Amino acid sequence: MHVHKYEKLWLIASLVLIVGFISTIVFGAVGAGVKMVDDSGGQVNASGLSDHPEFKDPGVRKVGSNEYEVYVVAQQFIFNPETIEVPANSNVTFYVTSRDVIHGFEVVGTNANTMAVPGEVSKITVQFDEPGEHGIVCNEYCGGAHHDMEGKLIVRE
Ligand code: CUA
Repeated sequence: MHVHKYEKLWLIASLVLIVGFISTIVFGAVGAGVKMVDDSGGQVNASGLSDHPEFKDPGVRKVGSNEYEVYVVAQQFIFNPETIEVPANSNVTFYVTSRDVIHGFEVVGTNANTMAVPGEVSKITVQFDEPGEHGIVCNEYCGGAHHDMEGKLIVRE
């Protein structure tokens, strides 16, 4: 069978593309450099949160003039605290963990979007410049009332 020279080139080019796409998917899913959990917040005993110095009483801590830390415990099907309040022009570091199963923690309209994993503390820092309200949603399926699991973040004037 005679294959035209350019046809052969196109065949090779499309093969290269296919292999490229597949390796993107494979290495994207399991390769180094992709970390599903930001564990820079360290580890925690998921069944001992009520004895933890910070997670036993989740909420907002003022740690500097414009610096805040917020400890959040996710569980079926609430965030504790459900409402977080910080002032505008503040730098807020969230420490998020879960008491039971894997949840999500996304502050809508910001780049704060992480998983809440039992035993792990996810740490994310966000700068809030403008006053306003942000929904907090769970974006990992966590059971029957997953779609009802939400909180609120209020950025005061
Ligand atoms: Cu918690 Cu979905």
